Amino acid sequence: MKKFMIGNWKMNQSLSEINAFFNDLNLTGVNCETWIAPQALHLSTLLLKASGTNIKVGAQNISEEKSGAFTGEISPVALKDLGCSFSLIGHSERRSLFNESNAVLNKKVLLNQSLGLTSVFCVGEQLEERENGMTDAVLKHQIVEGLKNYPESALDQLIIAYEPVWAIGTGKVATPEQAEETHYGIRTVLVELFNRAGAQIPLLYGGSVKPANAEGLLSQENIDGALVGGASLKGEDFSKLSQIASKLSK
Ligand code: PGA
Repeated sequence: MKKFMIGNWKMNQSLSEINAFFNDLNLTGVNCETWIAPQALHLSTLLLKASGTNIKVGAQNISEEKSGAFTGEISPVALKDLGCSFSLIGHSERRSLFNESNAVLNKKVLLNQSLGLTSVFCVGEQLEERENGMTDAVLKHQIVEGLKNYPESALDQLIIAYEPVWAIGTGKVATPEQAEETHYGIRTVLVELFNRAGAQIPLLYGGSVKPANAEGLLSQENIDGALVGGASLKGEDFSKLSQIASKLSK
């Protein structure tokens, strides 16, 4: 499987920083999946910048509604219309800062799927949950609720990103062994839900991934790529990350 390197730019990057990113970007020989989720206002800019490259562009969030009187929301129909191919769904910042419930996230995943867009569905436990031995149960709950009624026939539009909340933006990264063990647990849940096809769903790790630790993580059997925040903002670092993912792609 080709490894994935997905940059989540969050609410960062000015237009001049985006220009600098592309000036510094070097994807020569890179053959992994290279995706970027800029803030919504920059989607069109990114699509233009990425044309002629293999980079796919998507959103960080979508509305659970197609269109209508939802001031300030991001329509997945418009996203598709624009030429984007995916959206992150259920990032821990959406869950905690914007109170997105599993039920709402499930609506978003199903809507995205029905429109032909790929969902990068994010799950993760809080530090306290890990310390209390609840990681597997928390992740299973998020997955079972978030993917309720997801059709087995559309698994090629689904990616799971495991991001321990305690590792996001903190510099504290899960060890490759910790991440692999958790991914193995997630894989088991996906096989329970989708039978053998569940074993093919790409599972990405996220949380303080950077060029210095990416190889150890991405070498693990059940880690199919990374969702990267801070280290995806600079073209040079994102190039290095993509080269590592590419080297480990089969
Ligand atoms: P980070 O963010 O790489 O800055 O920890 C990851 C994410 O939130 O997707």
